[in-house]
Amino acid sequence: TDLDNFITGLPKAELHLHIEGSLEPELMFALARRNDVAIPYASVEDVRAAYAFSNLQDFLDIYYAGADVLRTRADFHDLAAAYFDRAAADGVIHAEIMFDPQTHTDRGIPFAEVIEGLLSAMAEAEARHGISSSLILSFLRHLSEEAAFDTLTMAEPWLDRIAAVGLDSSELGHPPEKFARVFAAAAAKGLRLVAHAGEEGPPDYVVQALDLLKADRIDHGNRALEDMALVDRLVRSGMTLTVCPLSNLKLCVIDRIEEHPIDRMLALGLKATVNSDDPAYFGGYVADNYRAIAQARGLDKAALAQLARNSFTGAFLPEEVAQAHV
Ligand code: HPA
Ligand code: ZN
Repeated sequence: TDLDNFITGLPKAELHLHIEGSLEPELMFALARRNDVAIPYASVEDVRAAYAFSNLQDFLDIYYAGADVLRTRADFHDLAAAYFDRAAADGVIHAEIMFDPQTHTDRGIPFAEVIEGLLSAMAEAEARHGISSSLILSFLRHLSEEAAFDTLTMAEPWLDRIAAVGLDSSELGHPPEKFARVFAAAAAKGLRLVAHAGEEGPPDYVVQALDLLKADRIDHGNRALEDMALVDRLVRSGMTLTVCPLSNLKLCVIDRIEEHPIDRMLALGLKATVNSDDPAYFGGYVADNYRAIAQARGLDKAALAQLARNSFTGAFLPEEVAQAHV
């Protein structure tokens, strides 16, 4: 349809994408075979059937198990290359990609294998599709502060190739304050800062991400809507929220896509963006997310264009590059 074509043709940046969450079942089987790794599924259909989640933790258990097929530099390359092919088809021209080193280093996979595989696919995507990209090293918040510091140390040789650090995994019980010192250390090394906050966690976790982590961007942020003083603060500071509609639906942050608050966020003046989070697990890439909210909330082209503009103003791109797209 006309709106489909408009959405695909709209140049956009994707700011909230976990590369491990782009592992499609077909590639999971191919890598399981290539690496001789056993997986607890009989078929691709069997894998997809397992993707029924009732909360974040339900999903994380399956997501970390799926990542076990990723073993070599070639695997991380192929994973990211597949994402870039899909993103290019969706009109993504810039992507800031989160990766979870601890998911791999804790299984004995060297940090170098992970990041070099990703970097090679990023260079190819630039050459092949004209997509620019950068990396966000995400700390797993269910692990310790010390483990996060160790991960930051491992990343030292590649710091010029990493744009930011992030914070993901199980939110409830792991407030941002647990990582205040490692975020300060990352900032001192010149890295930008993002954190998942307010997906399942309370509005106070968003406040902590701002005050204690000094986050430049909030991933999700949905529950900030429960605190109007916080909304006001986010609006006044021009804080970008990386919102993920199909993720919100699949992880039961909302009960129905028709209840998604994306248009309410825009009406309040929040700098919301639309992203896919873990597209292989949540049933859609970035254009699918735009289409889902356009249909469910009746967003017009102006609102969709605003969301795409917000993705560039919220990106860690040089000012003049971002401005060329707004
Ligand atoms: N929330 C927290 N951790 C995650 C997510 C998410 O949506 N996706 C992958 N890791
Ligand atoms: Zn996420």
